[in-house]
Amino acid sequence: MKITMIGTGYVGLVTGTCFAEFGHHVTCVDKIEDKISQLKAGKIPIYEPGLDLLVGKNVNEGRLQFTTSLDDAIPEAEAIFIAVGTPSSRRGDGYADLTYIYAAAKEIAHYLQGYTVIIDKSTVPVGTARQVARIIREENPTADFSVASNPEFLREGAAITDFMRPDRVVIGVESEKSERVLREVYKPLFLRDTPIVSTTIETAELTKYAANAFLAVKISFINEIASVCEAVGADVSDLAKGIGMDGRIGNKFLHPGPGYGGSCFPKDTLALMRIVQEYGESVRIVEAAVEVNAAQKARMVKKIRDMLGGSESGKTIAVLGLTFKPETDDMREAPATTILPALLEKGARIKAHDPKGMEEAKHYLPEGIEYMENSYEACEGADAVVLMTEWNQYRALDLDRLKVIMKEPVFIDLRNVYDPATMQEIGFRYMGIGRK
Ligand code: UDX
Repeated sequence: MKITMIGTGYVGLVTGTCFAEFGHHVTCVDKIEDKISQLKAGKIPIYEPGLDLLVGKNVNEGRLQFTTSLDDAIPEAEAIFIAVGTPSSRRGDGYADLTYIYAAAKEIAHYLQGYTVIIDKSTVPVGTARQVARIIREENPTADFSVASNPEFLREGAAITDFMRPDRVVIGVESEKSERVLREVYKPLFLRDTPIVSTTIETAELTKYAANAFLAVKISFINEIASVCEAVGADVSDLAKGIGMDGRIGNKFLHPGPGYGGSCFPKDTLALMRIVQEYGESVRIVEAAVEVNAAQKARMVKKIRDMLGGSESGKTIAVLGLTFKPETDDMREAPATTILPALLEKGARIKAHDPKGMEEAKHYLPEGIEYMENSYEACEGADAVVLMTEWNQYRALDLDRLKVIMKEPVFIDLRNVYDPATMQEIGFRYMGIGRK
């Protein structure tokens, strides 16, 4: 099958490459010439484990190509996926900015030939697919097409596995004809018994927001319970096991931390709040989760301050991990972008390390942060170390060495990676989240 992917950002590139791996012929289109020439030269603009090999393989086998020209990509395509960015709007009101989606629809319209299904892959407000249809019809009244919605549920850092072995595929369609096309696109997954939820376009659009909002609620719930654990002297790790083994609750997404970040949860929770307002409805549980998340980051600043004896002024803090989670170089909405400026403002010296995210971090963090070659350099002479992101390489630190090189053996573990009793035995003053 011939597929065109508009947008070679995170979602577009991973999805397009995986479709090629399914055996389809995929053309990925992007306006940014530099990006396309990089991709043509085999350079992947993002860090996602396994993606470079998969792109290389599919390009070599002739199923994946990159272009800036819609003329090359659209006429033959049976399915066109729109995977352009939908950032929070510049108005700062939480609405998703749909400029790129609508611009893509407008451009596609002129090149359509034969029956084509145009599918929103980007996370878009309810009603967007219908708007895309309207725009295309206005631009090209004779075009033979259907619109559809097919939200993605990929986690950064695990996107290829998530794509190849999803829990489910959700498709929102308006006709049997378009459903057949989408079933054909995902045929290799059906052969592996992946469940498919085929529904209306509006339901599919809302499903994405509901999924992300639910996960954000779950994380904010455990973060608040962690604070309760600290107050009453309970242990959140055991508690999470205790509730997570109940199949109705489930054990995933019950890890407390410095607050969720990334490109999806912060943006999609706000967008959902705005969407429902337009319909005179509210999602108060989601609003609470957003508030709890902001409070969680502030609480982390206080935790660090308390461990430094009440003031961070003049203290050196080593920070291990800057990205919003491991296995990505993505700094969008990373808790570090809120926590570190607060510490810096109050006079702390910050020596940071991240395995993949330091270049990105420089665009998101204020000047004055020192970026170090490795974790030990960051910790040298520090008054405290803060484990911010649980990269594997921070899970087995040489703690005896750390204790010797640090000025003070103070360990603040915002991801509960280490065991409190062991840390105390080694001689650290240790503080995790939700554990005494
Ligand atoms: C998420 C969704 O998982 C994915 O389905 C959707 O398509 C996009 O958004 P992603 O943003 O890549 O994916 O990351 P995810 O692994 O879900 O983590 C998001 C944030 O939540 C991270 O900051 C992570 O550290 C935090 N988190 C996650 C916790 O604090 N505790 C947890 O138990 C799980």
